[in-house]
Amino acid sequence: MTRDADENFFGHRRFLWLWAILLALTGLAGGYLYNKPIGGRNGGTRLGLIYGAIATAGIAFLMWYGVRKRYSYASGSGTLKGWLSAHVWIGVALGLLVPLHSGFHLGWNVHAAPYLLMLATIASGIWGAYAYVSMPSRMEARREGLSLRRCATEIETIAKSMAALASDKSSAFSALAARVTVPFNPSLVRILFLERYVLKEEELSSLLASLPKHEYQDGLELTRMGARRLHLCNTAVAEASALARMRIWLYLHLPMSFACVAAVVAHVFWALSFRSSAR
Ligand code: HEM
Repeated sequence: MTRDADENFFGHRRFLWLWAILLALTGLAGGYLYNKPIGGRNGGTRLGLIYGAIATAGIAFLMWYGVRKRYSYASGSGTLKGWLSAHVWIGVALGLLVPLHSGFHLGWNVHAAPYLLMLATIASGIWGAYAYVSMPSRMEARREGLSLRRCATEIETIAKSMAALASDKSSAFSALAARVTVPFNPSLVRILFLERYVLKEEELSSLLASLPKHEYQDGLELTRMGARRLHLCNTAVAEASALARMRIWLYLHLPMSFACVAAVVAHVFWALSFRSSAR
């Protein structure tokens, strides 16, 4: 039996929203096939207008998610996960509902803009939702159960142990210590483009070879600590990179959704004023 906490938002409450949407779409498709208006199916028939109104309400609901997420995180009805589940499935369903509204007519005119913008928003949403679902598990595997904060603390702790090991040693040992203790202050470019820290094996070998014999074992230990620290640095950068990319994605999905709303408003306004002037 799957517990709700283990499910991601796609499968929230045993795919409750997916089932609800499939049921609703089946009913709406049935209504569409049953209805045979004079002049053919299009967005201006009674059923076309009803479906258009449902689609508009759907978009309003999707936009409300942004408000729900920001301003009533701890209060309000339902969990945020449930809301996101509804958001995702209703969003996908709109891609099918709008053609039912327009009678599958899509011309190269002003009315195509809201639909195309909506499809682009849906596509970006699907990509983002997939990234959301796959990212945490990937990050957890990379972190070996460490949080980003604990990762940074451990990087610092290892650096201190390395400095302690290198104190009162030869200048060759100090050179090795300086090389293996990579400075961890990742730039924005490193985070965004996921540039990993690297230590060249040949360089390390020659630095190790230059050590006085009695410092060689400590040199090996220092290299091992450096490698562990480097691994943690790269883990932290990879995680920060994933988080930054998700943020950038959201800044794409959000303006797209607003553009879609603006196009829908223009479409509704145009269609309704055209209808009233045609009477
Ligand atoms: C016309 C279609 C859509 C509109 C208008 C829309 C709109 C929005 C809005 C307003 C937000 C809130 C952003 C914020 O304030 O931070 C959002 C977030 C999101 N949307 Fe959509 N969306 C649409 C379709 C979809 C689809 C189809 C999916 C996935 C299949 C999706 C997945 C997401 C995800 C994953 C988030 C981020 C959730 C979070 O950070 O909590 N969206 N969307």
